[in-house]
Amino acid sequence: MKSKSWLKAGLFAALATAAFAATPARAQGSLVMYCGVQEEWCRAMSNAFEKETGIKVAMTRKSAGEIYAQLKAEASNPRGDIWWGGTGDPHLQAAEEGLTLEYESPKNKELHSWALDQWKAAKHRSVGIYAGALGFGFNTEQIKAKGIPEPKCWADLLNPKLKDDVQVADPNSSGTAYNLLATVVQLMGEEKGFDYLKALHKNISQYTKSGAAPAKAASLGETAVGIVFIHDAVVFAVQGDPIKPVAPCEGTGYEIGSMSIVKGARNLENAKKFYDWALTPAAQALAAPAKSYQVPSNKAAPVPPQSPKMDQMKLINYDFVKYGSSAERNRLLAKWDKEVKALPK
Ligand code: F6P
Repeated sequence: MKSKSWLKAGLFAALATAAFAATPARAQGSLVMYCGVQEEWCRAMSNAFEKETGIKVAMTRKSAGEIYAQLKAEASNPRGDIWWGGTGDPHLQAAEEGLTLEYESPKNKELHSWALDQWKAAKHRSVGIYAGALGFGFNTEQIKAKGIPEPKCWADLLNPKLKDDVQVADPNSSGTAYNLLATVVQLMGEEKGFDYLKALHKNISQYTKSGAAPAKAASLGETAVGIVFIHDAVVFAVQGDPIKPVAPCEGTGYEIGSMSIVKGARNLENAKKFYDWALTPAAQALAAPAKSYQVPSNKAAPVPPQSPKMDQMKLINYDFVKYGSSAERNRLLAKWDKEVKALPK
């Protein structure tokens, strides 16, 4: 059953790619894309769009907090046209600060309600393109060697035997790590949440720049645990690496990966073309062959069988409006810098 639907998804993607390839490229100008997912998926998207439309795409991959900071720095002289991918919170902050543009795609009616919730929360300046739940991945060999039980809960990551053996990204640069910060605050309350992050700090070997990096490190045994979106750990598990993805027992947060058009985009019409295309089932089907297992936002897009089953997890009622607001995101990041990152180990 599983492999059948996987086959269907693969066939669909192959047909979609063939359709793009069959369309002759025309000289249609260019598009500057800031891409917030994994490099392989970013490339698959920009190549397919180029083939289909003849529009030349200049793509840069960065983490969500970095793209937000770049848009802010470039506000008086925008260089980007479309911000595709990355966690929804910084997209919401950019929307509130007027760095992105209102747009209503004709494709909106094909989307899941959670994708439109993002569009409404952003006052039409951002839309959901995929969803994914937060968790961690642990290296089975490392955990065995330490003689500790397999971690199942957030609380298990405080085990002193994991000292200097947990990795997570820095929430200033990474949307994943900001999602962790906001999740812990919502799940435990602010005081207890910060106590948890301070205790976790003792076990952190390094705060990486990109959110998914700790999954790779855990798959290679460079760290025992990587706190990541669960789909980023699944990538390595399905290729046979000794990593187990976990949805934490206490409950967890999730992301609505998003897309926004840059205000002042020099290639506005091309940005709108990309936006509409990126919401189609064919474009969203490019994710799985590029080893990206998020849940797509178009209801007709195939859900990869490798996608973590979000409906079987204990998910918190993540308050995207609050935690994506400029004041709250700035406040929490400043507090984390001062009270967690600055702590001696
Ligand atoms: O592409 C993987 C992914 O985890 C996305 O699901 C997510 O939106 C993005 O990376 C976050 O990346 P970062 O934490 O580096 O901002």
